[in-house]
Order: sequence, then C-alpha cells, then structure tokens
Amino acid sequence: MMTSLFSYLIPLFLFFSNVFASDYHEQLNLKPLPQSSLLASFNFRSNTTLSQFEAHNFRYFPRSLGQILQHVGTRELHLRFSLGRWDAESWGARPWDGTKEGGTGVELWAWLEADTEEQADLKWLTLTNALSGLFCASLNFIDETRTTRPVMSFQPEGDHGSNLDNLHLLHGVLPHEIVCTENLTPFLKLLPCKGKAGISSLLDGHKLFDASWQSMAIDVRPVCAQGQECVLQIEQTIDMVLDIERSKRPRAQGNPIPRPPPGHDLKCNATKPYHSGDTCFPSDFAEGEDWSIDQIFGKFLRGTCPLTDPNVPAVCIHVPERRDIFTTANAVELKNSDGLSRCYQVPSEGEFSMILPRMSREGDNAKTIADETVEPETPLLYAERSLTGHGQERGGVQSILTNPSPDTAVEFVYMESLPWFMRIYLHTLKARVEGAPGVKDDIIEEIYYRPALDRARGTQLELRVRIPPASIVFLTYDFEKSILRYTEYPPDANRGFDVAASIITILPSTSPGAPPLRLRISNLRTTSLLLSLPTPDFSMPYNVIIFTSTAIALAFGGLYNLLVRRFVGADESPEGAGGLKGKLAFLVKRLSAKFKGAKVRTE
Ligand SMILES: *[C@@H]1O[C@H](CO)[C@@H](O)[C@H](O)[C@H]1NC(C)=O
Ligand SMILES: *[C@@H]1O[C@H](CO)[C@@H](O)[C@H](O)[C@H]1NC(C)=O
Repeated sequence: MMTSLFSYLIPLFLFFSNVFASDYHEQLNLKPLPQSSLLASFNFRSNTTLSQFEAHNFRYFPRSLGQILQHVGTRELHLRFSLGRWDAESWGARPWDGTKEGGTGVELWAWLEADTEEQADLKWLTLTNALSGLFCASLNFIDETRTTRPVMSFQPEGDHGSNLDNLHLLHGVLPHEIVCTENLTPFLKLLPCKGKAGISSLLDGHKLFDASWQSMAIDVRPVCAQGQECVLQIEQTIDMVLDIERSKRPRAQGNPIPRPPPGHDLKCNATKPYHSGDTCFPSDFAEGEDWSIDQIFGKFLRGTCPLTDPNVPAVCIHVPERRDIFTTANAVELKNSDGLSRCYQVPSEGEFSMILPRMSREGDNAKTIADETVEPETPLLYAERSLTGHGQERGGVQSILTNPSPDTAVEFVYMESLPWFMRIYLHTLKARVEGAPGVKDDIIEEIYYRPALDRARGTQLELRVRIPPASIVFLTYDFEKSILRYTEYPPDANRGFDVAASIITILPSTSPGAPPLRLRISNLRTTSLLLSLPTPDFSMPYNVIIFTSTAIALAFGGLYNLLVRRFVGADESPEGAGGLKGKLAFLVKRLSAKFKGAKVRTE
C-alpha cells in the first residue's frame, strides 16, 4: 500500500519541481589556497526564454543590457574585468578552467549578427560605446587598432543552430584599464537582488579590489536543451583570491593607512637555511589561521535572494570532512560524497556567517596539514611571458610554456594581439622544446598571421601548438619599436605602453588513447607586458620656451624702460614731488602739456 502511494507521489513531485524550477540561482564557492589565501567564487545565473526576450519581457535579464544587445544584434557576449595575477605555481589550476577570466584590464568579445564585415564593425562600435556607458569603463577606446577577429582561439559557447554563418566574432582588449569600484556598482545593478540580499550582499569594493587577484565576468549566450524552448542565459561571475591575513587586519581604527605588519608578526618558514632575524621566507600554509566570513568580507551574508532556486545551496566550501566548521544557527549542512567539500543552505532571513577554526595541532604537523587542506589541482599548462633584449630600437618576446603532465600531450592555440607600434619579425619566430628526449622542435602545427598597419590595426598572431608530455616550450620572436608622433604619447609616456596578455586556449583532447579525456576547452592568460618605446625628452621644448621668454622679457623690459623714461636731476623735480598727490599732479600736468602740444602740431 505504502509503496504504491509513493510511486504515485514521486512523479507528481518531480512534475511540480520541474514546473516551479527556478530560472535563477546563485552560489558562493570558497576554497582555501596555500599561503594564507582564499579563493571566493561568486556565481549568478539566470535563464530567460528567447520568445520572452524578443517580446521585451526581460524577466531576470537586466533590461539595460538586454536593450543594448537587441539593438546591435548581439548573439553572444563575453565581458571581463580583471586585476592582478593568478599565481599558478602555488594556487594550482584556475577556477572554471580559466574560461571566466580575462587578461589584466578589460576584455570584450562578442558574436554579432551582420551581413557584411563593415556592418559588423559599425555594430561593434555601437556596442563598445553603449557598454562603456553602462559599465563606466573606457570600452569606447576599443577602436580598430585594438580589435581583432580571432580565427582559431574562440569558439561560440552557446547553441546558435544553423545561423552561424552570418555571425561575426570581434574581440578587443584594454590592458591599461584599471578596474575599480565604479565598475563593480553597475555589475551589481544587473543582478536580480542588486547586492542587497543573498551572496551578493558580501561584495564590497574595498575587499574586492584589495584582493591579490580578481576577475569579474559577464557571459550571455543562448542555450537550448533537448525538448525545451531555447533560453538566453546570463551568467555573472566574480572570482577573487583574498589574502586572509590582510583581509582580517582591522581598518580605520586609528590606523587608516594600511601598513605592513612588524617583523616579529611575520609567519616565516624557519626550516629555510637562510632564515634569520632579518630574512623571512613566508611559510606555505596558514597553519594557525582561523577566519570567518564576516571577518574576511567585512560583513555578514544577509539572508537569501528571494528569487533564487531554494534547492541550490548558497555557500559551499572545499575543505576535507575532518575539519570542523561552525555556522550561525539554522543553516543546513550538506556534505558532498567525495569528502572534500560541503555546502550550506542559508536561512532566508537574518545574518549568516561561517567560522573555520584553527587546524587541530595534535600529532604530526605535516600530516595534519595534508589531512585538513585540499591540495590544489595541477594546471594543464603553466605559461609565462616576458620581454627580452635591450635598447630603444629592438626587442624580443619570450614565452615559456610548461606541460607538467608526465604522459599527456597538450594541444593549444596561442594568440597574441599586439599594438601596431610593436612591429614583429615573423621570420624570427622560433619554438624550442626542452625536456622530453628525441622531440623535434617543429611543434607549431598551424600559423595564422595578420600583419599590422601603422595607426590602422595591430598584429594578430595565432599559433596552434602541440606540446609533448613533461616538456617545456620556449616561443621567441623579435620585434622593432616604432617612433610615435609626439601627440600619440600618453601624459605618462615614461611609464611605458601596456601590451595585452596572450590568450592560450587549450583544446579538448580528442585522441581516445590518452588517459584523461577532456571535452571542454580551458583557457589561460599570461600577464600583460609593459613596453617602453623610445620617448623624446618632453621637457626640452618647455625649457626652450621658458628660456626664450625670459630673454625676450629681459631685453624688451630694458629697452622699453630706456625709451619712455625721462631722466631729470633731483633739483629739477617739481616741488612736493615726494608725496603721491604731488606725483599725480605732476603727471597730469605733463600729460596735458603733451596733448596741447600734439593738438598744436596737428592744426
Ligand atoms: C537554465 O537552462 C539550462 C538549459 O536548459 C539549464 O541547464 C539550467 O539549469 C537552467 N537554469 C539556470 C538557473 O541556469
Ligand atoms: C618550509 O620550506 C620547506 C622547503 O624548504 C618545505 O618543504 C616546507 O613545507 C615549508 N614549511 C612551511 C611550514 O611552509
């Protein structure tokens, strides 16, 4: 009897849960990283059906952004604001496989619907200008010299069906843009709960932009599931790596200026041979570090967003099951079956916080650390890039790409979009492989190169490379520095010019023999570079102007003085000339005498 009742109830329950499945959810993932860091990943995602969107019924989709996208026929949009450097050596693989981060500054790419390339360019111009206003960023500076049309590096993420033919991909970067609070505020305004409730209530400009690394992302794409209407999905993501110690430091209590902690408070690794009173190597793990959500974010989590899917837990943390975590009342803990993470359902009203106490110190310390922290995942590839060479005329770029895997080759597309004043010599492009024995150097499988035109477009270089297991590839090329017109230099010309990060797209491994079969693309970006160009001494014209002006002023002053001054002996001066009144009377007398004389002469 019981079983038959249940068998009726379950499909009914599933049916209802399907109908009422929310189209919006948000989640915060916390992940302690080595060296006293904490990765906080905020994710907000919502669905709006395409028919609703086209009928201007935007539902969860922010209207301001929706209207811009409709106006310029944008089918897919990706916008990134990033700051800092992801330290892959200590923090391991990037969150979201690196697909939700951009190079330092602002990065934008979109698929636009247009019949011709010129029409796509016009729409791109409208899009960048509109987004620039919406996000308070200088996106309108993405002109034709900073726009590229990537050929191999980007693939559409959404389901575009058959109308992929008239879609144009355009990509632009602003490496010099400084991401700050004025970009966070519009970002929060796009969320259904606008940062007032739910996990977005934790976001605060002071903490976000004090992070060691941060990236804000907006992705809009159409998604079609089988047997359902296609939806337009908007996903907003904020990832940041907080330094726990720095975030916990109290602010503005008689100490408004953040200062480095005194030497005796530093946590040093005393096992290093050079450790002494005045040298300190920071210790790897914040062993004794305890923290709570309100300490590191500066505020409590205020309830849940009423629109969010109640089945998706609001906060998740990646620590082994052995570690104790305390939360405020009424939160429901859900342990993940892998034993490495757990999630919390937050009460819909009131404030929520979570405390991670110090690690238990009993027994062997090293063993405890291994038991109570999750080892970061090894990334598929390490990448770094730097400028080589010296002098004002020529330079070089060297990229070092390391495949840490002992048995899997990695295939990727390496893309550079360089400013026009960096004229590269393609014949100097070389790849050298180190590590695996018997590997030839011809690992570049395909090259796409679009040379720069002065003041019209930049260089675009895309390379498809296959890097053998456990080896290092050195990609090098030389370039020549152009001399700019003096009006083309920025006001801080001696700082140098930012060169955008190179974008590395790791392709899915398709060979079925290789052990881990990856179906998804992952991304990686190097840091941006600071290129110094030959800069004229701008103080020279200034010096010349000042010097000539002084000389003229001196000569003119003296000459004029000699010409107009009348010299009289002291005894010849009129009486009473000592006072101001006397002087004035004398002047008037002289002037009137002069005028009279003049009149007589003209008559
Ligand atoms: C949105 O739609 C996609 C595809 O149908 C689905 O996978 C997802 O769970 C839906 N909801 C949210 C909040 O993303
Ligand atoms: C100190 O450095 C050594 C390597 O020199 C390392 O093995 C050890 O884990 C470090 N200890 C801490 C606490 O960071």
